Amino acid sequence: MKRTEIKTLLQRTDYGSTINVKGWVRTKRSSKNVAFIAMNDGSTLNNVQIVVEMNEENDKLLNRIHTGASLSVDGILAESMGSGQKVEVQSQTIEILGEANPDEYPLQPKKHSLEFLREKAYLRFRTSTFSAVARVRHAMIFAIHQFFNDRGFYNIHTPIITGSDAEGAGEMFQVTTLDLEHLPKNPDGTIDYKNDFFGKAANLTVSGQLEGELAALALSNIYTFGPTFRAENSNTTRHLAEFWMIEPEMAFYDLTDNMDLAEDLLKYVVKYGLDHCKEDLEFLSNRLQDEEKNKKAEERSMELIEKLKFVLDEPFARVTYTEAIDILMSSKPNKKQQFQYVIEGWGADLQSEHERYLVEKHFKRPVILTDYPASIKAFYMKQNEDGKTVRAMDILFPQIGEIVGGSQREESYEKLYAKIKELNIPESTMWWYLDTRKFGTVPHSGFGLGFERLILFMTGMTNIRDVIPFPRTPLNLEF
Ligand code: 4AD
Ligand code: MG
Repeated sequence: MKRTEIKTLLQRTDYGSTINVKGWVRTKRSSKNVAFIAMNDGSTLNNVQIVVEMNEENDKLLNRIHTGASLSVDGILAESMGSGQKVEVQSQTIEILGEANPDEYPLQPKKHSLEFLREKAYLRFRTSTFSAVARVRHAMIFAIHQFFNDRGFYNIHTPIITGSDAEGAGEMFQVTTLDLEHLPKNPDGTIDYKNDFFGKAANLTVSGQLEGELAALALSNIYTFGPTFRAENSNTTRHLAEFWMIEPEMAFYDLTDNMDLAEDLLKYVVKYGLDHCKEDLEFLSNRLQDEEKNKKAEERSMELIEKLKFVLDEPFARVTYTEAIDILMSSKPNKKQQFQYVIEGWGADLQSEHERYLVEKHFKRPVILTDYPASIKAFYMKQNEDGKTVRAMDILFPQIGEIVGGSQREESYEKLYAKIKELNIPESTMWWYLDTRKFGTVPHSGFGLGFERLILFMTGMTNIRDVIPFPRTPLNLEF
C-alpha cells in the first residue's frame, strides 16, 4: 500500500479507509486492552496516534517497540475520540522496520536539555524542537529565493575557495594540499606555495560579496546565498565558524535604496514564516515561554509571535552611528558603568550589549545604523565627504544585535586604490576587483544577512548552535 505522510493523514476525513503510515515512535502507552503509539515522520510537528488491540501476537510485537523504533503500519483511518487530534489509525498490521534498544537509544520520551541534545546532534532532528526549527529554516530559505525571484534578482554561485580576503579581517581557514609535516620553504623562510594545489595560498571564503559585485556590475541585481567561513575564535551564542549568508548586490542603488531593500526582505520573510509555519512557531513560542517561566518578568523575552508581528508593524528606526553614540553616552547603563564595555566616545566599536540597548530599550524596534567610522569598517565601503565615516549600514534586531551588515560600495578607483594601499591589502589578490572601478564603474550597494541569526530571531532559540543542523564552532567538529 502507498504510504500517506502524517501531515496529509491528519487532514483526511475519509474515515474507514485503509491506509499505510510510516514513521518513528515517539511514545508508547499500554493498558489492558489496547496500546497507543504516538508516531512522527517529520512531515509535521504533530504525531499520529496508532491504536493497537492487545492480543497474543501484538503483545509480542509491542515488547519490541520502543521510543525511536521505525514502523510501517497498515490500518483503518478512524475518527479520534481522544482530545487533541481528529484522526487516529486503528492498526491491522504493524511491521517493525528498525528496532531501537531502549538501553542504548539516547533520547527518552521526556524533555531533554538543549545542551544534551547538542551532544546528540545526530539524532536531535527526532525531537519536536529540532524538527520545528528545521522546517522553519526550510521555509525561510524558500521565502528568500521567492523574494528575490519576484523582484528579478539573479542567484549567483560565488566561489567557496578563494585567494582573497573579502572582509580584510584575516579570519580565514586555509585550504591546502601541501604536506603540513614537510612544508616547502622560500629562501627567506616563508612558505613556498608554488607546489600547492592552486600554486598560491587559498582560503575558504568569508563572504561572496566581491564576486557578487562583479556580477551586479553586469546583471544589475544579483544575490548569493552560500556558506561562509570565519576562523574567529569567538565562542558566543551568536557566532559560528561556518554559517550561511544571503548577499544581494545591486548596481545603481544608493544607501537608502539598500536599506529599503533590506527592510523589505526582512519583513517579507518574517511574514512568510508567520503565514506558513504557524504550528511550528506556536510550538516554539510555548517552548520559549516554558524555558523562561523561572525568569524575572523584566528578563523574559517578548512572546515569539507577538515579537515577529511587531517587526512587521513598525518602520525600522534609521539613525547614524554618531547619533547612536550620543544616545549611548548619555544612557543610564553607560553612565552607571553597567555595560561590560563602557562607551568612551566617538570611534568606539559597538558590542552587542550596545546594539541591544538601542533596539530593546531606546527605540523599541529594529534599528538601522548608518555612517560608521571608516576605521571600524571594511575597505570597500564608500567614503563619506567628511573623510571620517563610510556609507555603512548595520541592521540591529531585538535579542540578536547585528543581523545585517552592508554598505554602499566605493566606486572611485582612486579612493579604493588608496584605501587598499593604506591597509596593506596585497594588490595581487585584489586587482580584478579594482579593475571594475576602471571599466564602467557605477554607484552600487549590497548587504549580507546572516541566515542563522535570522533563524534565531524567527524561532526564539537563544543559541546559534541550535538553529543549524551541524554547528561548527571552536573545538567542535563531531558530526
Ligand atoms: O557584517 P558582515 O561581516 O558583512 C559581510 O560579510 C559583508 N561582506 C556583507 C555584504 O555587504 N555583502 O557579515 C554579515 C552578516 C552579519 O550581519 C551577521 O548577521 C552574519 O553575517 N555573521 C555571522 N553569523 C554567524 N556567525 C558568524 N561568525 C557571523 N559573522 C557574521
Ligand atoms: Mg558586520
